Amino acid sequence: MSNEVVSVTFDDGIAVIVIDNPPVNTITAAVRAGLSDALERIRQKPDTKAVVIRCAGSTFLSGADINEFDGPPREEEYRRLFNAYEQLDVPVVAALHGTVLGGGLEFSLACHYRIAAPRTRVGLPEVSLGIIPGAGGTQRMPRLIGVEKTIDLVLSARPIDAPAALELGIIDRIVEGDLAEGAIAFARELVAAGKGPRRTGEMSVDPATATDEIIARMTERAKKEYPNREAPFTAIEAIRASARLPLDKGLEYETELANKSKATIEAKGSIHVFFAERESRKVPDLPPDTKPRTVERAGIVGCGTMGSGIAICFANANIPVTVLEVSQEALDKGLAQIDSILESRVKRGRMTAEEKAERMKLIRGTLDYSDFRDADVIIEAVLERMDLKQQVFKRLDEVAKPGAVLATNTSTLDIEEIASVVRRPEDVIGMHFFSPANVMPLLEVVRTSKTSPETIATVMALSRPLRKTPVLAKVCYGFIGNRMMEGYAREAERMVLEGATPRQVDTVLENFGMAMGILAVFDMAGVDVGVNVHKANADKYPPDPTYYQADFALYEAGRLGQKTGKGYYRYEPGDRTRYDDPEAIEILRKRARELGIEQREHSDEEILERCLYPLMNEGIRILEEGIALRASDIDVVWTSGYGFPRYRGGPMFYADTIGLPKLLEGMRKYRDIFGPMHWEPSPLLVRLVEEGKTLAEWDRERRTAAGGK
Ligand code: NAI
Repeated sequence: MSNEVVSVTFDDGIAVIVIDNPPVNTITAAVRAGLSDALERIRQKPDTKAVVIRCAGSTFLSGADINEFDGPPREEEYRRLFNAYEQLDVPVVAALHGTVLGGGLEFSLACHYRIAAPRTRVGLPEVSLGIIPGAGGTQRMPRLIGVEKTIDLVLSARPIDAPAALELGIIDRIVEGDLAEGAIAFARELVAAGKGPRRTGEMSVDPATATDEIIARMTERAKKEYPNREAPFTAIEAIRASARLPLDKGLEYETELANKSKATIEAKGSIHVFFAERESRKVPDLPPDTKPRTVERAGIVGCGTMGSGIAICFANANIPVTVLEVSQEALDKGLAQIDSILESRVKRGRMTAEEKAERMKLIRGTLDYSDFRDADVIIEAVLERMDLKQQVFKRLDEVAKPGAVLATNTSTLDIEEIASVVRRPEDVIGMHFFSPANVMPLLEVVRTSKTSPETIATVMALSRPLRKTPVLAKVCYGFIGNRMMEGYAREAERMVLEGATPRQVDTVLENFGMAMGILAVFDMAGVDVGVNVHKANADKYPPDPTYYQADFALYEAGRLGQKTGKGYYRYEPGDRTRYDDPEAIEILRKRARELGIEQREHSDEEILERCLYPLMNEGIRILEEGIALRASDIDVVWTSGYGFPRYRGGPMFYADTIGLPKLLEGMRKYRDIFGPMHWEPSPLLVRLVEEGKTLAEWDRERRTAAGGK
């Protein structure tokens, strides 16, 4: 034994190192120490002829320990350890399985040979976290596969499968059957053939893979795929250097660039979101002995757009689910919709026909509430009407077993009011999925004043098999995400009435990094959807006659967005390309004239500020009211549900980035122009600025107060 996580045994001249650091063999300090000790032990055994390194559990080393990212730089420590393995004078074989990413793959590159189980996947995803491979990847990978293909791998940031890795030359062989035995057999083969070490660092990079033309082409690609980003370009620079520098100098340069990239806002924002997504699963105010209930069967009421997507989530999680509809016709339609969503995944190669059949077997249709008798959780996804939802909940109350979670997918209705019709309001909770429900990762979990800790814990735990990122919210109109959306979209709409074009507004938002400009989003979702919500909830909005009037004007002209070929933009049949449409602009101008809104030019800066400032201000209000538990939860909502760029860390992180004083000043600037109705700074924003604090500090203080780290 070397230490608890790394062991070495000797098998007739072959040293076998096994790393066992569950759950995913992250390269923690203990693993590094263990690997260091193992090396010492091997050096003390002069009769060692070869070394095999493998991992127990689900995967080979999966990557660096992200918990260490905040601490001092570790690149040098990694470099020394990996170099020491590379310098061994007997062949070193890494036996890969599972998902081998980042530092895990980089370690294997410092080994002399790599073999892999058939379903292994390997990748260098660092740029998606705003950083670059910093443990030798940018220098060793090009020595194996060339500069161009390394850049390709790094820019794609996605793992490739074992056959692709074999073809590229990252691995030497795919081993069927038992990997531990296969690795020893492979090592013995090397010994028998008299093969010694084959050090990646001593190979040279093929200069034909690093020409100026290739670098220029890859840089262009990075510009297109990664606007506003630095890491991809820094990575290209590091990889390119491998062609001119010997390994030791190249590694030093890589360290320098890696440290530079770690200090960027992009890296800090991306890593913030990574941790925020872990944190959002924790609910500090639940009693510590709260146990989630097991969920083995689910039910869904309403199999329309949302119900069908939610049913697929359960089937994907291998949880049998019964969907209920109002009529056989509606049920058939809903099941056909599920079938067609899954079929399109089969067509795109995301799922096999067998997998689809398995999923379909888990989904049952019914018209009879008594089929929910055994369900542990039932989600209502019928039309957005209080009377309907209350009727459904009354029926559920009659048939559901004691302790079943009764959830609603409502976006706008008061869940307290829905819960008021059942005898067990403690079991009622909001599970707000986003469309398409089988794709979007966000799940807003909405608790009422009566929801029990067990119900909350059950839904938070259920989010894991459903592959959702849960964020807990309290009841308010719009919960977290849609409530913040209100001001963001309001200003976008108001500006097109003031004379900005839809293209101009959307382009500013997209250049900032939003996945899609908000007006294009409306066209995609249906202009009528927003209009209906605003009509149904007129009493909840401020008395502003211009409020969402761009939507209303287009709606009244029959321009409902993509589905009618016309909305804020014009569309050709079967094509989602947005074309500018003078007719839309004329409709907006006419409405502006009727409302007495003057036409003028807008700078890009104004567009961005007017959309983002209310969004951030409302987020801070939501924090203050306790609707969200943490600022970082709000960042999760917006990055996983609303297309806010992860590399900007979410709206609350972004507020800290620009500085709360600047946000406050901006709110006051627009309040002076437009009046206080929409532009009153939230009291917490004012207070934090007075106290010189950030939102991150606010989160930290509350975490400490709750007894966390
Ligand atoms: P939809 O109109 O596509 O589907 C509703 C389905 O419920 C229809 O198939 C209808 O036949 C069925 N239904 C109506 N009354 C019923 C009853 N008494 N019993 C059983 N089934 C009944 O509507 P969609 O878009 O799926 O919305 C459902 C809920 O999800 C609404 O509360 C909506 O606010 C919410 N939601 C919708 C989102 C979206 O993007 N569409 C996003 C998040 C939430």
